[in-house]
Amino acid sequence: MPHYVDLHAHYLPALDDGATDPAMSLQMLRAIAALGFSELFATPHQRAGMFMPERAAIDRAFEAAQAQAVEVDLTAKLGLGAENFWDAVLLQRLRDRTVPSYGGGPAFLFEIPNQLMPPNLENELFDLRVGGMLPVMAHPERYAAIQRDISLAEKLGRHAALMVDLGALDGAHGKAEMKTARRLVLEGLATAAASDIHRPADQTSVAAGMAWIRKQRGPAALDRLLDQNPRRLLSGDLPEAGEA
Ligand SMILES: [Fe+2]
Repeated sequence: MPHYVDLHAHYLPALDDGATDPAMSLQMLRAIAALGFSELFATPHQRAGMFMPERAAIDRAFEAAQAQAVEVDLTAKLGLGAENFWDAVLLQRLRDRTVPSYGGGPAFLFEIPNQLMPPNLENELFDLRVGGMLPVMAHPERYAAIQRDISLAEKLGRHAALMVDLGALDGAHGKAEMKTARRLVLEGLATAAASDIHRPADQTSVAAGMAWIRKQRGPAALDRLLDQNPRRLLSGDLPEAGEA
């Protein structure tokens, strides 16, 4: 039975650099569901000056995707979140407690600039945890500071979940990203993994990343990264490093 939870995907059409239309959106949903996923969270980008679809447009796209999924008897459940870029808009939303999180719960997905670690990030994440939020860092393998020094991932991982892109494990995003993603999984620093699917063709590298985890760490680790830990995150519970 499919039982994995995908916490990072761009299948809602015409909102960001993901699916361009409803037909492609459905293709992507089917592509991920076929890999054993039963819960598929849409995480459209929220990034000032680049992708900032309005809340109402996101809700409309999500409702349409759900209706389409019902129409074609897709058995997977759809959920809604957002990929929040660490910018002034996000910081304000965090202060106002209006950040678009997973299903309106405590966990929210965020990304930071690849080349520049926000100053004071570790303390900010700590404060968010104390305030009852659960920050989930998207593709930690992509950030130069973590590529240079893996111990930074360990520090950030005390206050945030680290969610690697499955495709990165197969080299879909570059060599440095692959090396770092693999290290995060092998050293137990990755809390979860996700598709980050942007196009139906991404299915191939996502499947290869899953196969890599199964081969290197075994099926129980794949279950932790794609089933148990994502579900814990959704309920606001941060698994400790090593538990992953
Ligand atoms: Fe993404």
